[in-house]
Amino acid sequence: MRIAYTSDLHVDISQRNWELVPYLAEVVKIVDPDVFVVAGDISPEIGDLEYALDCFANLRSLKLFIPGNQDVWVLSEDMQSLGHDSYEKYYFYLPEACRRNNFVPLWMEPTVYGGVGFVGSIGWYDLGPGTEVVPSFSREHHYLLDSIWNDMRWACWADISTMVEGRPKPVKRPDSEVAREFNLRLDQDIEAFALDAGVREIVVVTHYPPFPEMSLEGMPFCGSRELGDILSSHRKVTVSISGHIHSRHDVVVGGVRAVRCPVGYLRREHRRYQELVKECLEVIHLIEGEDFLGRHPR
Ligand SMILES: [Fe+2]
Ligand SMILES: [Fe+2]
Repeated sequence: MRIAYTSDLHVDISQRNWELVPYLAEVVKIVDPDVFVVAGDISPEIGDLEYALDCFANLRSLKLFIPGNQDVWVLSEDMQSLGHDSYEKYYFYLPEACRRNNFVPLWMEPTVYGGVGFVGSIGWYDLGPGTEVVPSFSREHHYLLDSIWNDMRWACWADISTMVEGRPKPVKRPDSEVAREFNLRLDQDIEAFALDAGVREIVVVTHYPPFPEMSLEGMPFCGSRELGDILSSHRKVTVSISGHIHSRHDVVVGGVRAVRCPVGYLRREHRRYQELVKECLEVIHLIEGEDFLGRHPR
């Protein structure tokens, strides 16, 4: 089975990002994978997101999407105070947008294809905002710092118990609680496939990286360690596909091959689209009965 993956299309960030997507879709069509995965961060605007998903309309592949932090932002404090929050996007608007464009909303609908179970979640992080920010945060990767500050403002996981009339704003739940909630649900979805004799192995798609080993050198880990522990504890989990950090990565941690292949911000990137596309798409092969990693029973 051939799985092609990308992430972080960020079509709202620059015209270059917007215009790259049809080129990317052309290449995916030529590669013709069995499964095509987009691991989050297309745009906070649902219309933009649908534009990007629609670019892949002509693929024969099974198409899977999970949202990134920027996809769940609610970009208006007025809307937030009216009770519109990231849960609403995560559980209602984004799944609807996926279904309209023939993408499986993987965080809502774990899927089995050819004996491989696919599960997904945004992931989230359990660090306090702004913690462990190291002075060596290079300019190139400053977006990670911006992301923390923007999440504080625009990601709004509301505590519904505080959404009472007359209150100016809903109270946001702490990131650690949000991460735990999503981790728990993902663990349950993996467990269901772990017990399913028809599922040979499991591929987990998250936006945030599951392992600290996927961080950029010298940078703090911007994920949840609990997520990595969950992946490593399930013997059938063989592959993790993630996004968020705008650099490619391919590493084996705790018996899991953890990969990402993002587009990132292309504002200052002037190469031809045909050249750029080669760096934003990767293919992983799963071969039945083969175990290239030599995993030990966990
Ligand atoms: Fe991103
Ligand atoms: Fe992100």
